[in-house]
Amino acid sequence: MRLGTPLSPSAIKVMLLGSGELGKEVAIELQRLGCEVIAVDRYSNAPAMQVAHRSHVIAMTDAKALRALVETERPHLIVPEIEAIATDELVAIEAAGLAIVIPTARAAQLTMNREGIRRLAAEALGLPTSAFAFASTQAELAAGAEVVGFPCFVKPVMSSSGKGQSFVEGSDGIAEAWRYALESGRVEQARVIVEGRVDFDFEITLLTVRSVKDGQVTTSFCEPIGHRQVKGDYVESWQPQPMSPTALKSSRDIARKVTDALGGQGLFGVELFVKGDEVWFSEVSPRPHDTGLVTLATQYQSEFAIHARAILGLPVDVSLREPGASAVIYGSLEAKGVAFEGVAEALSVLGADLRLFGKPESFLRRRMGVALARGASVEEARARATQAAGKVRPVTV
Ligand SMILES: Nc1ncnc2c1ncn2[C@@H]1O[C@H](COP(=O)(O)OP(=O)(O)O)[C@@H](O)[C@H]1O
Ligand SMILES: [Mg+2]
Repeated sequence: MRLGTPLSPSAIKVMLLGSGELGKEVAIELQRLGCEVIAVDRYSNAPAMQVAHRSHVIAMTDAKALRALVETERPHLIVPEIEAIATDELVAIEAAGLAIVIPTARAAQLTMNREGIRRLAAEALGLPTSAFAFASTQAELAAGAEVVGFPCFVKPVMSSSGKGQSFVEGSDGIAEAWRYALESGRVEQARVIVEGRVDFDFEITLLTVRSVKDGQVTTSFCEPIGHRQVKGDYVESWQPQPMSPTALKSSRDIARKVTDALGGQGLFGVELFVKGDEVWFSEVSPRPHDTGLVTLATQYQSEFAIHARAILGLPVDVSLREPGASAVIYGSLEAKGVAFEGVAEALSVLGADLRLFGKPESFLRRRMGVALARGASVEEARARATQAAGKVRPVTV
């Protein structure tokens, strides 16, 4: 793929499906390489739209609307940033040769549904995972929970960021978990996965890259990222997460198998649970991962720069520069067009940096920004990132 000039016939056109904070950083990296960036989301003024050449507001789950937009724009690459997309239509678009879907349309299709990716990982690839069962009724869920055992996690098969997810300690929690999953799931059809709890020491995201080197797709790995989740949503991440050589090797083996099976080019966020030398596969995003925001502080090339290069067929550098951490800044209030107090104080924390995403509307638990920090150690970086994040306060004007 030969890079050209945006807004001219030589342009490489990239369409982002989803324009959140992760897409914004990908858009910036593509802009730096002179790509023409088209940002799409279901609401206007989304973060990536603010740094794109142009933008469109459509329901990305609407196959007809998606197809019409792709036919009008004729992008070379389609880069999904979220899961809730009409992925069957992406398969049709790819099959018709209209555009290349990153990493592949099938990868987007399999990972938008927990059932697709879990069956691939556990059944087709034989990777270690939690015990699991699927259910389409409350009775099936109760039966599935008995089989996987308590405590367990119940999650809608179509959901992300912990939405609709419950931690259930005994059979008397099943009815509530079922009700909550139905209320928060993305689709009409009721279906959940119930997973036995993996009693891990820590969990990691292993950023895994499929990029072209000497004309061939090769796989490379960033240093493992540790993170802390609250109610299924990440609040803090750091890199590198120390782990045993055996666990690191198993993690890479698992990540390689699952990304080989998904194929294509780009960066993947492989989520793994680790206990001593033992590793379990949890899930995978075929795109930059939220916990990987930390790489803006730690790597020579962030996960966003790596993704942009990998999808364009360019070489990548996955090496770590120094330890670092990220801490999420939440909206903590419900308002449009918020302002931020405490930014100068946050940036006065040694080694700290900030990203404010520019989301048009704040919600209590909406991620509005992130504090980043480097440090001599992960501990120092975590303390700095948390301190910096704590100084930033969204306010109404
Ligand atoms: N089977 C499990 N055992 C232990 N912890 C789990 C399990 N499933 C989920 N979790 C916890 O919940 C978090 C969110 O679950 P995940 O499946 O990654 O959902 P999402 O797609 O919303 O990120 C995980 O990062 C982990 O901390
Ligand atoms: Mg996850």
